[in-house]
Amino acid sequence: MKPVAFVLDAAGGLGDAVAARLGCGMEHVALHEFPDGETAVRIDPDAVADTVLVAASLDHPNTRIVPLLFLARTLRDYGARRLLLLAPYLAYMRQDRRFKPGQGISARYFAGLLSGYFDGLVTVDPHLHRIPSLDDIYTIPSRVVHAAPAVAEWISTSVERPLLIGPDSESGQWVSDLARRAGCPFIVLNKIRRGDRRVEVSVPEVEQWSRHTPVLYDDMISTGRTMLETVGHLQEAGMAAPVCIAVHGVFAGDAYRSLLEAGAAQVVTTNTIRHESNRIDLARPVCDAVQALLDK
Ligand code: R5P
Repeated sequence: MKPVAFVLDAAGGLGDAVAARLGCGMEHVALHEFPDGETAVRIDPDAVADTVLVAASLDHPNTRIVPLLFLARTLRDYGARRLLLLAPYLAYMRQDRRFKPGQGISARYFAGLLSGYFDGLVTVDPHLHRIPSLDDIYTIPSRVVHAAPAVAEWISTSVERPLLIGPDSESGQWVSDLARRAGCPFIVLNKIRRGDRRVEVSVPEVEQWSRHTPVLYDDMISTGRTMLETVGHLQEAGMAAPVCIAVHGVFAGDAYRSLLEAGAAQVVTTNTIRHESNRIDLARPVCDAVQALLDK
């Protein structure tokens, strides 16, 4: 029996595209929000199959997690035995240790929560930094899709003489891999985060790259402060307007507009979170990963 996909609106076009590629039935979920803020989930009970793929992006996770978990329970009630979650953007991965005494480790708690409701997980470039693998915190099997091949292809066809710039040491792992794939030079900067919207990024030494187009690359843009700070340094150094690329365009508040107004030539993201900056389509690799998990 073929699996069926239930797509929460937050999954955007990627959930639909993956379901279409897999050739499985695609069901949308009706969410009703009551005046007091509670949510009712409603599905077509006749559409539930033995194996169900649930697609949901988890940006703005606090408002999305309750409907997602209720959907999972509803599907089980109607007979689903195997529930796989496609969460192209996986939230809470940056809170991977106690930064201050008394703090909780949200990445672990979130992983525990999802692991209790689903039987498998597919996601794209989760923020694995101090936690080396999803297996360290998720107790369900997972597949991680890497955006780098698709991003490298976009850079190769869209940017003349790119110089890749990672804004902080964490981005070093992604930038070096991307530079190898795109066949271009790269540098990695240092960042100190002093608050949610206060970051300091080291001044890049770019004299020898003055004829290149700076391409800032990070796994996500949230407040945009990391990239804004770097764009400022590049302007002061007299470089060409940079292209800012992130796998996940979370864009808290006015982050997207601020980057464009600050002088970014383009802000480009993949379609893990639906946004007007989406230029890089990950439907094919995500579909392959879902298929691999289904076949497991
Ligand atoms: C940091 O750990 C991440 O890789 C990004 O650099 C960070 O999340 C970007 O955040 P913001 O856009 O708020 O500066």
